[in-house]
Amino acid sequence: MSTRKVGIVGAGQIGGQLAMLIAERGLADVVLMEVPDREGLAAGKALDIMHATAVLGIDADVRGTSRSEDLAGSDAIVITAGQPRRPGQSRDDLLRINLGIIQQVAVQIKAVCPKAFCVVVTNPLDAMVYAFQKVSGMPTHMVVGMAGVLDSGRFRGLVAWRLGLSVQDVSAMVLGGHGPTMVPLTDTCMVGGAPVRHLLPPDQIEDIVQQTRTAGDQIVSLLGNGSAFFSPAASVLLMLEAYLCDRRRVLPAAAYLDGQYGCHGIYMGVPVVIGKGGVERIVEIQLDTNQQAAFDRSVQAVRQTITQVEAFLSR
Ligand code: 2OP
Repeated sequence: MSTRKVGIVGAGQIGGQLAMLIAERGLADVVLMEVPDREGLAAGKALDIMHATAVLGIDADVRGTSRSEDLAGSDAIVITAGQPRRPGQSRDDLLRINLGIIQQVAVQIKAVCPKAFCVVVTNPLDAMVYAFQKVSGMPTHMVVGMAGVLDSGRFRGLVAWRLGLSVQDVSAMVLGGHGPTMVPLTDTCMVGGAPVRHLLPPDQIEDIVQQTRTAGDQIVSLLGNGSAFFSPAASVLLMLEAYLCDRRRVLPAAAYLDGQYGCHGIYMGVPVVIGKGGVERIVEIQLDTNQQAAFDRSVQAVRQTITQVEAFLSR
């Protein structure tokens, strides 16, 4: 039994994998929630994880449920509920279907754990995190979207594998929306303290940037019936650790901007400090002209989805 509790809404691939990671690390007790007619999925995965932790000799508490009341007392809530992408679908194609789900979940979470730190994972991410905050009315610093940690991890991995070096020594950030307009920052990508442009020619860096942008699509077409789940779950884990253990880590995440980066009233991927206060600070880094133009293009793409969210919510 832990003194911390995490609720995961959606017991699909990301939810299940995340529950296992949390249990394995002894980070928190977990409640895995599904809709009533899929409660067996949540209960079955929770029980399987309990068996796995018993095998590994780890004391864990993972339960499945379909009752939102069981989420009460959660320090953090992760929202993974929604339809995943199928081959040929863009993240934006899921907007209408997943909006209805997020709307219901936001009402439930606000009712049972209004003080929790909420991490939204459902796609299209930037629109869903916006909708979740709007509907729930929860404080903007306690509602954040997971995408930048994943996109930056993919970018860092691609650089490390190209160079045959440890990913631990590659630092990089991907900003902007979680879609084709995302902005991998090449100038500030460092390998062991040296700029990546000292180690790789421009065409190879550009190739890595394109691969980062399409990494999620690649997995969707390889899997054939869903999207990535190991890496999204790992990314949420980092964000939860930062919050629950007050790590005050600088991580890229979809955060509510109120003037920062020249944006108002929109969730965008930017570097933030995550600690026990939730999103404690938005880190404003100076973007050069090209980066700013790319960031602005991404803002425009996200704003288009926000317009659809607003239309849906005002029906
Ligand atoms: C991805 O990029 C799930 O959108 C997520 O793989």
